[in-house]
Amino acid sequence: MTWVFDQHKVIICAGTGGVGKTTLSACLGILAARAGKRVLVLTIDPARRLADALGIDTVNDEEVPVALGGVSGQLSAAMINPASIFDRFIQRAASRKELADRILKNSLYRQMSTTLSGSQEFTSLERLLTAVDSGQFDLVILDTPPAQHAVDFLYAPQKIYALFQNAITQWFVQGPRSKGLLQGLFQRGTKTALAALEKVTGAHFIRELSDFFEGVAEIQGEVSGRSIAVHRLLTGPQTAFVLITGFDRAKLGATRDFIAELRRGGYTLDSVIVNRCLPQWTPNPAVNADLRADEDYQKLLAFYGQLQAYNQDRESEFKLFQEFLGPLTPLVRVPDLVSDVTGLQGLQKLADKLEPYVKERG
Ligand SMILES: Nc1ncnc2c1ncn2[C@@H]1O[C@H](COP(=O)(O)OP(=O)(O)OP(=O)(O)O)[C@@H](O)[C@H]1O
Ligand SMILES: [Mg+2]
Repeated sequence: MTWVFDQHKVIICAGTGGVGKTTLSACLGILAARAGKRVLVLTIDPARRLADALGIDTVNDEEVPVALGGVSGQLSAAMINPASIFDRFIQRAASRKELADRILKNSLYRQMSTTLSGSQEFTSLERLLTAVDSGQFDLVILDTPPAQHAVDFLYAPQKIYALFQNAITQWFVQGPRSKGLLQGLFQRGTKTALAALEKVTGAHFIRELSDFFEGVAEIQGEVSGRSIAVHRLLTGPQTAFVLITGFDRAKLGATRDFIAELRRGGYTLDSVIVNRCLPQWTPNPAVNADLRADEDYQKLLAFYGQLQAYNQDRESEFKLFQEFLGPLTPLVRVPDLVSDVTGLQGLQKLADKLEPYVKERG
């Protein structure tokens, strides 16, 4: 029996907002633990109930064992806390404590690490790399941040790397590195520009800005090394994407775009999970002739016809999507549970529905 988990060491659950990424990441974690793996689920921004179900603390981002019971593997879970991961990243990247402290104290840095778009994606990948490098797990499952456009996950971290690496930082850096007439002139120009800016915006802001870029320039080398490592991990054979989507045209369309981006970027797509699918009912053929003539039965049948038409639209979208995906990529349907997925029991129940599909692969 082949499990998806035997083929990969990293699974990234991505998809548009609210489709069930966090829930299904946890379910995949449960299944991996059932398959005997030491698995870590890294979850971002989980609903309170889900965090409670996994026993994770939303403030503290340490890895905690999840008390599953009766499984041969071990499930651990941890929250991704962008601010503290970013801080640890700076502490590691800076060669001197003084430099790290200077960056960490900087108000622009504080802003960047918490509110700048892309910081959640950047820190998720940073956390993923740390977990993989620790060697403690057979498998790491990464839940991805809520985003309107799922493809942002692939590009958002670049914005942060660019901020660290972009030549614009050189604008603000003064000192021994300046070489050549052009650069000298350029830096004098920068100084003049800064002096003018100081008058308009206040000396404090400019000092913070200049200080930030000066600090960041010193860790550029470390940052680019890390960005290469992340890219290598994401595009390497040990990593695969599981895309989570919904059963409607807009969500399937967004997933199609995402898949096209994955193919273009050389990433591995493992499977697509269509979450919260509705069951398909068929009329009972054994209904006797008397009942067929019954007026209420006819009304019910008309209602059923409408429901069928509603489903049919979705089914034809699904078929088109299936054709686009091709026969080699598993397309999994997970039912919409009547009750919301609460507690570890709820997650286990949903995992049961998923289990047949992640088994027997290849
Ligand atoms: N198959 C299902 N049946 C019933 N409820 C479900 C199912 N899958 C997910 N849910 C519920 O849908 C809601 C959204 O799920 P979840 O938080 O996992 O989505 P998400 O994609 O992580 O959202 P976000 O983009 O905000 O991070 C939750 O309340 C969850 O319990
Ligand atoms: Mg989520």
